[in-house]
Amino acid sequence: MGVAPHGLGAGCVVRLARVTDEKRKKVADQYDRGYDYTAYWDNRDYEHAAEEAAIRRLLDGRHFGRAADVGGGFGRLCLLLREYADHVTLAEPSRTQLEAAERVLAGTDIAQVQMQADDLQFDDASLDLLTMVRVMHHIPEPTTEFSEIARVLKPGATALIEVANYGHFKNRRRFKKEGKALPKEPVSIRTATAEEPDAIAFVNHNVDTVVDQLASAGLHLERKLSVSNLRSEKLKKALPTGLLVSVEKALQERLASRDSARASSSSCAAADHRPVPGACGLGRRRARGQPLAVPRARRPGGRRAGGARSGRRRARAAPDRRAPLHGVRRGSRRAPAPLQRRR
Ligand SMILES: C[S@@+](CC[C@H](N)C(=O)[O-])C[C@H]1O[C@@H](n2cnc3c(N)ncnc32)[C@H](O)[C@@H]1O
Repeated sequence: MGVAPHGLGAGCVVRLARVTDEKRKKVADQYDRGYDYTAYWDNRDYEHAAEEAAIRRLLDGRHFGRAADVGGGFGRLCLLLREYADHVTLAEPSRTQLEAAERVLAGTDIAQVQMQADDLQFDDASLDLLTMVRVMHHIPEPTTEFSEIARVLKPGATALIEVANYGHFKNRRRFKKEGKALPKEPVSIRTATAEEPDAIAFVNHNVDTVVDQLASAGLHLERKLSVSNLRSEKLKKALPTGLLVSVEKALQERLASRDSARASSSSCAAADHRPVPGACGLGRRRARGQPLAVPRARRPGGRRAGGARSGRRRARAAPDRRAPLHGVRRGSRRAPAPLQRRR
């Protein structure tokens, strides 16, 4: 991919450590506590390729102006996004991740800015594309974050949100066997040994609940994919990555649509229970979407652009599940819908 410089000096990282809003949640600095997220991606070529395939499918060859990858870590997906957008900002709260990004993204024009999802340092209606991958498992109650996402997106812009899915195949089968419904609320999947005061949240979500939350924020679901459906150590050992990825591509759409049919006990998620950190979903804008309400929960003084300039991989025993990728689009011209949670 050709990377065109856009006037911001390579290697410069803008860090915005301010806490500007009383509503802001606690600082998401848990990835600064000695955890090597880059090492997590060792031996995860299949998972990475599965996510890339989903993103490409959801973006569907379209091109964007300004894009941001929220909670983008060390910038794993930023160069991919740069193929689809003229300007990409890595928006990440962890200083450690940003330091890693300086190395990973050195020589590129990917901007790197310290911020978190509930306090995005972008102007209202300033982004054409926003991605948030493997972050939702850290956000049990995403109302504020979704409102922020809706605020910074232009009308008709696209958000790709990955959601760690509690309704994966094994859980669906288990709950069905027990004659119970899947919980609507997010479920903590933190290992007992990982419990510590102020530990980062680790949840799997009910995807339908998340879709409702997105809708309440004015983000309309356009398309959903199921991702990393074959994530299994046994499969990965037995089969070449290329074959796994080919099968994965064939499954992403099919399993996502099954997931939408709540009557079905089939799952869009991989049947693997291994504890790993965050995974989520993505989506794309479609031509025929109902424009939905856009909550305009502004803060005094408005917002400023997250300008910056320029931008791999083991996880600690902190589980997540394969997740469906969701396409959501910010709506445009309707009265704001009340922000509400549906459980
Ligand atoms: C599992 S990593 C995913 C990184 C990247 N999106 C990827 O897929 O490689 C989770 C990232 O989310 C960030 N994070 C945690 N809480 C966050 C929040 N409230 N807002 C934005 N990012 C957050 C962490 O600092 C970490 O970099």
